[in-house]
Amino acid sequence: MAVGRDLVQAQSARFAALDPLLPPAADPPEGQVLTAALPDGRRVAGVVVRQHYGRTALASLWSAEETWELTPLLGGSGGTGMSALLSAWRQWLDRVADPGGDSACVVTWPSRDAEATRALLDHGLVPLSAVAVRRAVPGPDLPPPATVTVRRAAPADLDTVLRLAMAELEYSALVGPTVVRPNAVSLKRAALRERLVSGGLVWLAEQDGIAVGLAECALTSSEPGSWTSGRLPLGRWGYVNCLSVLPAARGTGVGQQLMALVHHELSRLGVVGTYLYYNPPNPLSSVFWLRQGYRPLWTVWEVRPAGALR
Ligand SMILES: CC(C)(COP(=O)(O)OP(=O)(O)OC[C@H]1O[C@@H](n2cnc3c(N)ncnc32)[C@H](O)[C@@H]1OP(=O)(O)O)[C@@H](O)C(=O)NCCC(=O)NCCS
Repeated sequence: MAVGRDLVQAQSARFAALDPLLPPAADPPEGQVLTAALPDGRRVAGVVVRQHYGRTALASLWSAEETWELTPLLGGSGGTGMSALLSAWRQWLDRVADPGGDSACVVTWPSRDAEATRALLDHGLVPLSAVAVRRAVPGPDLPPPATVTVRRAAPADLDTVLRLAMAELEYSALVGPTVVRPNAVSLKRAALRERLVSGGLVWLAEQDGIAVGLAECALTSSEPGSWTSGRLPLGRWGYVNCLSVLPAARGTGVGQQLMALVHHELSRLGVVGTYLYYNPPNPLSSVFWLRQGYRPLWTVWEVRPAGALR
């Protein structure tokens, strides 16, 4: 997109000043280009991409069915630029889109950009998710967990893993973007079966032989040019896709013991750090993850339905 090169460079400089862990701003995706003029004559731009997640899409469990995602190109303009672009987006939606009820406007933006936060809140968006990161800290061997036994899950554990994953889904649907779709169990079952059959990094925490905790993880590489390199510093990362403790066992140290072992194992696999999505309105995980050494890098702002954008 020709309009964006200078904006991308200025945006990279602003990101670097905001947060040393942010990678340089990525080139925008292909999509509908929006522009807006600022009072001082500068221009900002953004690219809107529409997605539709049908019944069979796993992403329908954490996304509205129809989304419009905006990638802002604000250069160095901060809150003023974000506000002008969001106003242009509102006008564009009025002209071209007729969002249904199961729809969302989505913007992912550096968590530490407080000026942009003001503009996003003023336009009706809410911080439903955050990408949080933790640098790997290789250390001596861990003492074994005190009150649980942790082991890798196998394909024969599918029903147990599914039950724990559904407990997380149901809780997260109360406090974030997750939606318990009518076919949630079958979508989850298929995804988890594949993870287990392919030897995925899935751990169970057990008490007296009963599974009470689940950590479902993966490895991912942030390489130049990849989608991940626009989100994370370069290197091999561990990804925590799901952490779940059964309701009766929560708050007794299961999650902490499980994650201590998972961090240790992922560190042994040579990761530079681990990352995950959590929901800032989740009163359990928002506290838990910060205490395990994570901190927000990106915030995913949403307004549902999309027509409620101001
Ligand atoms: C978030 C979640 C995974 C955390 O796991 P957990 O096992 O409940 O967390 P822990 O018990 O290890 O830690 C929580 C608190 O219990 C405390 N705790 C630790 N050991 C304890 C013990 N032996 N007895 C009592 N409390 C204990 C911890 O210190 C911590 O409190 P603090 O931060 O105030 O110190 C769990 O609450 C959960 O499954 N929530 C619902 C689903 C969810 O939100 N998943 C995460 C999605 S990102």
